[in-house]
Amino acid sequence: MFQQAMKSLRRTMIKGVLAVGAIEVTTHLPTEGRSAEVYHFVCDEMAMPVIRRFINPEDAHHLALAVAQSGLAPTYRPTAQEQKIDWSMPNLWIEDDKSTKDSKSMAPPNCIGLAAGFDKDAAAIRPLFDMGFGFLEIGSVCLKSQPGNPKPRMFRLVPDEGVINRYGFNSQGADAVEANLQAYRSGGVDKTKEDSTSNEKSSLWSVVSKFLQNNGLDKFLPRSSDEQAVQGLLGINLGKNKNSTTPTEDYRTLIQQLGPYADYLVINVSCPNVDMKNLGKSTSAMEELLLACQDERNKVLQNQKGSKKKIPLLVKLSPDLTDGELKDICICLMKIKIDGIIMSNTTSTRPNGLLSSSSIVAERGGLSGKPLKERSTECIRKVYQWTDGSIPIIGVGGIFTGSDVYEKLKAGASMVQIYSGMVYRGPGMVSKLRHELSERMLQDGYRRLDDVIGLDHEDLYWKRKNYKLNA
Ligand SMILES: Cc1cc2nc3c(=O)[nH]c(=O)nc-3n(C[C@H](O)[C@H](O)[C@H](O)COP(=O)(O)O)c2cc1C
Repeated sequence: MFQQAMKSLRRTMIKGVLAVGAIEVTTHLPTEGRSAEVYHFVCDEMAMPVIRRFINPEDAHHLALAVAQSGLAPTYRPTAQEQKIDWSMPNLWIEDDKSTKDSKSMAPPNCIGLAAGFDKDAAAIRPLFDMGFGFLEIGSVCLKSQPGNPKPRMFRLVPDEGVINRYGFNSQGADAVEANLQAYRSGGVDKTKEDSTSNEKSSLWSVVSKFLQNNGLDKFLPRSSDEQAVQGLLGINLGKNKNSTTPTEDYRTLIQQLGPYADYLVINVSCPNVDMKNLGKSTSAMEELLLACQDERNKVLQNQKGSKKKIPLLVKLSPDLTDGELKDICICLMKIKIDGIIMSNTTSTRPNGLLSSSSIVAERGGLSGKPLKERSTECIRKVYQWTDGSIPIIGVGGIFTGSDVYEKLKAGASMVQIYSGMVYRGPGMVSKLRHELSERMLQDGYRRLDDVIGLDHEDLYWKRKNYKLNA
């Protein structure tokens, strides 16, 4: 009886080992876990089309956040090509260490970031970094909690690979976001960790996690806080409450409250779904607002005595400005020495030739994704030209491939962000972009990211390079 039991146990174990071996040989899942090619394929090529077919865009957005929070999203998939690239950006935001008198660039580990609007309340910072982003921008965060516009308020333009949204700054408010940021910065319990610890209490989860651990499949488990990969820069995008009559005061309070948690701050004056009271269009109104925000940011820095931290303050602009308006704004931003420009937000216009049904195209809101790509790149090129390449630009709008990133960098962006592309290409897109961009750069003989920025502007490019050689 005992011998029979042992025999059957041995047989089961051999079968188990063979099964895991076969899975490893065919898929690399046991050794590569959520970064395995097959895991990316299942998420991006199988799950995403099903989600797009059966789940409305806003619910799909919440589902994507929940999957990220539970630590099940595909993780960064490194390739040999990108190891050959020098991702450093020596000229981006230099911070001084007051004690050692050293200065260093506070650049992110790579130039691909997540655009504002996906993680509005800072609920999934760690897992989003694990996907391979070099930087994340949370928000837009409003001072007080507000629900945003009535649903439905997000629409897919599938044939055009575009998105229209009129969320209208739905935000849990500064207090709730601060609690999430505090947890993230202290490396303690954030939503991700909370979820995994409460999950661990459930007996089903403990059986599953023990099984995965015992079979070398623990790469599928959410990581604990001390196991996290190198994290990049965290930006906080600030917006204005719908009914606020004192926007400048609101932005000041937000900077005071959330500034200490930020690697950079963004003043969003370009949301097409909120009445911005001319702040994003009139140069004088924008200048007044940004000077007040810089003043408040400086106070935050003074309060962090002894800290070497710099908090760059950026502004996010609309692609719907006329050339005249954009040029005036560029002159103003150089005058007040803004630290960076995010180009661009969504557009209220509808380009000719959209293929989606006219009822969807006619939905109110900001259009993003492929139909925005050309316009946003054109704006980046103009801003780089009109600011003499002196202000770092974060390029965003319609990025789907490594070539799209390359185009934006050549037009003058130092870094890029993505959002709508992931609605169509899935969360594995971050790894793909890093790989495709590296391939594209190597094809053209570039090994340093810094050598690609602003390539389209021959005069400014060489001015920058000569300046650096002589510096
Ligand atoms: C659903 C949705 C919500 C967004 N919410 C915000 C927001 O709260 N604040 C903001 O500055 N931009 C927001 N954006 C704009 C994006 O950050 C980005 O500028 C724009 O979508 C263009 O990039 P894309 O074509 O890669 O999506 C949102 C975009 C989408 C699609």
